[in-house]
Amino acid sequence: MNVIWARSAAILVCLAIIGASLYVTAGPISGLLFLCVSLFLLLGYYLFQINRLWKVLDAPAYGAIPSALGLWGEVYYRLHRLVKRWRTQVLQVEQQHTRFIQAIQASPYGVLMLDDADQIEWCNGVAEQHFGLNARRDVRQRITHLIRRPEFVNYLTRERYDEPLIMRDMGEHKRSITSVQILPYGENRKLVLTQDITKVESTEAMRRDFVANVSHELKTPLTVLTGFLETVRDLPVTEDDRKRYVDMMLVQSMRMQRIVEDLLALAKLESDVQPPPLERVNVGALAAHLVHDAEALSQDRHQIQAEIDASVVLRGAESELLSALGNLVSNAVRYTPDGGRIAIRLTYTDGHSVFSVSDTGLGIAPEHIPRLTERFYRVDRSRSRDTGGTGLGLAIVKHVLSRHHADMRVTSEVGRGSTFRIIFPTDRSGYEPDVAPNYPDRTRHAA
Ligand SMILES: Nc1ncnc2c1ncn2[C@@H]1O[C@H](COP(=O)(O)OP(=O)(O)OP(=O)(O)O)[C@@H](O)[C@H]1O
Ligand SMILES: [Mg+2]
Repeated sequence: MNVIWARSAAILVCLAIIGASLYVTAGPISGLLFLCVSLFLLLGYYLFQINRLWKVLDAPAYGAIPSALGLWGEVYYRLHRLVKRWRTQVLQVEQQHTRFIQAIQASPYGVLMLDDADQIEWCNGVAEQHFGLNARRDVRQRITHLIRRPEFVNYLTRERYDEPLIMRDMGEHKRSITSVQILPYGENRKLVLTQDITKVESTEAMRRDFVANVSHELKTPLTVLTGFLETVRDLPVTEDDRKRYVDMMLVQSMRMQRIVEDLLALAKLESDVQPPPLERVNVGALAAHLVHDAEALSQDRHQIQAEIDASVVLRGAESELLSALGNLVSNAVRYTPDGGRIAIRLTYTDGHSVFSVSDTGLGIAPEHIPRLTERFYRVDRSRSRDTGGTGLGLAIVKHVLSRHHADMRVTSEVGRGSTFRIIFPTDRSGYEPDVAPNYPDRTRHAA
């Protein structure tokens, strides 16, 4: 017997005992009257409480559970406990839902949910950007009414989603490439995942270009080399011709060697995740090296001037800086006609160490300047090749500078000359006047 039956039975028994006692002591009318009145009041109380319960069930509000005496107090207490438990569960589910939505919102992927009629149920901010949608405005809209591109409509209706769909120039970012993958789930519902693959695609395109360029650059000397070897093998050649051919073969094999060496240098720089050391570079020795190389390359055909302030502090990897700055110097010599002037400077300006190489050479047209640091990019291919260039020098410079967080600025005028200026960041720059004497002004005049 549960508590309701037990308590009700107890009340009725009590009333019956009191009624029976009155019946005996005060007469039958008093006993029956007492029973009728007390049962009537009990019924009224029950009806009143049922009415309260009805109202509570009709519009349940947390914390608004009424209290009452006895049995009804018990009922309300249990109802209160039930509401509290449900409320806790609802809050937990709400929190989970909020966290789930926050996680999807934080995802770098676009997530869009479609119902069984391909209407938008929900989408995150990234999907809004990718498709150019507005979640509030477009929810419950059929997606094909909003994204009408035929390739998307075909993909959606084809119902074979093994491969993602690649879409170009969609949504808010023009010139973008987006991968769209549909995943069916539940009852005819679809999850649409989007990803911006612009960078991945451009890296892939760069990789393809790079492979094509390397193959092309190596193929040319290899073809020449093979041609000479076949000639020497198949045809009777004089000793002089043989010597000439061997010399030419040597030039081609050295060219291939330089390409491979430069590619290896680039690969090494790219794979090195450690930043260059903050050690002070011996700028005097560095400058001497650069000027010596310039003079050796120039063979007295140019006027070379060096203004190196040896008090300037440079911090970084000496060998990397020597290779990068050496390339700028060798370019200045190679792209300046005989009799031209080349100035190599190292100064300390506005808190930055600045290295510059100026020449009075061919100059570079403005449209080429942004592309100079691309691998194998040469303004004048044949001239670069004639002077032994691989077109990788400035790509190496770019990598070395980015590892040192340095900037390169190029100013140039066709026919008048160029200046390549490198500005080192403050943490790799400095000026200590007492440490070293200035590097002597080395000015050589064209012979
Ligand atoms: N001082 C300069 N004057 C004129 N053109 C230049 C100068 N420096 C670079 N260039 C142009 O930029 C191109 C790229 O230079 P980069 O140093 O990358 O290659 P390269 O000198 O041809 O070959 P490498 O340096 O690998 O031997 C050169 O081919 C040349 O056309
Ligand atoms: Mg070069």
